[in-house]
Amino acid sequence: LSRLFFTYQGIPYPVTMCTAETFQALDTFEARSDDIVLASYPKCGSNWLLHIVSELIIAVSKKKHEHPEFPVLECGDLEKYQRMKKFPSPRILATHLHYDKLPKSIFKNNAKILVLFRNPKDTAVSFFHFHNDVPDIPSYSSWDEFFRQFMEGQVSWGSYFDFAMNWNKHIDDANVKFILYEDLKVNLASGVKQIAEFFDFSLTGEQIETISAQSTFQAMRARSQETHGAVGPFLFRKGEIGDWRNLFSETQNQEMDEKFKECLVGTCLGAKLKY
Ligand code: PPS
Repeated sequence: LSRLFFTYQGIPYPVTMCTAETFQALDTFEARSDDIVLASYPKCGSNWLLHIVSELIIAVSKKKHEHPEFPVLECGDLEKYQRMKKFPSPRILATHLHYDKLPKSIFKNNAKILVLFRNPKDTAVSFFHFHNDVPDIPSYSSWDEFFRQFMEGQVSWGSYFDFAMNWNKHIDDANVKFILYEDLKVNLASGVKQIAEFFDFSLTGEQIETISAQSTFQAMRARSQETHGAVGPFLFRKGEIGDWRNLFSETQNQEMDEKFKECLVGTCLGAKLKY
């Protein structure tokens, strides 16, 4: 499996999407103060958040929001960074990078960063299905094999737990807000409102309700082929809390609980992440 990864500063990335040149380009990437940074580990709901924020921008600007065909900052061709220079503000910079791997200009220019988390068990299960369902990406021989790689951080974008611990150090930073997949799922309208407030978007209650209705799992899955092409139905697979119970053995459950305790218990994020 190691041949599937391009490892940069100790973190594996998918070899088909990230190269050394990508990271060189990010070193000189010029963020703007009104860029909207959306950070999340893979499979935590980044496409969901991207959709909500795009709709918020459309609602306040009355214009279609422009973003690159590969919205994840560290993925895609290098020319996209040139194209992004011409994008109107606010630009959305979606990323799966750890805090300390982000372009430094994001901090220099004080761009706001929204970090989306999801419980690690459902995240792992979603990641496994994505690998094994999507035809063009490598599959794993079994859930057990994937679980082992996930626990060792030998998956794209590295360890969930390192990502969480790294970001958790910045949970109280002025320009950073954390949001949970599980909270969005339980009360979408309240989550959409909080996101709008964080980015200073002034919307009516009716606009919040409309955006929430368009952002449910059912609504997004129904449009997924139109919005994301053939990969759409795999990207919007199940959208539930607790799907991990269908794959985890009791031993795996205990192992992940132990790891969770070791890495996150006693932290603010650890207290918030429930599953
Ligand atoms: S990726 O490939 O890393 O960009 O995937 P990402 O978009 O981060 O995460 C995909 C999971 O998010 C779920 N999802 C949603 N859940 C609830 N409501 C809405 N609207 C929604 N949109 C996406 C998606 O179904 C994936 O989770 P699983 O558990 O696989 O269904």
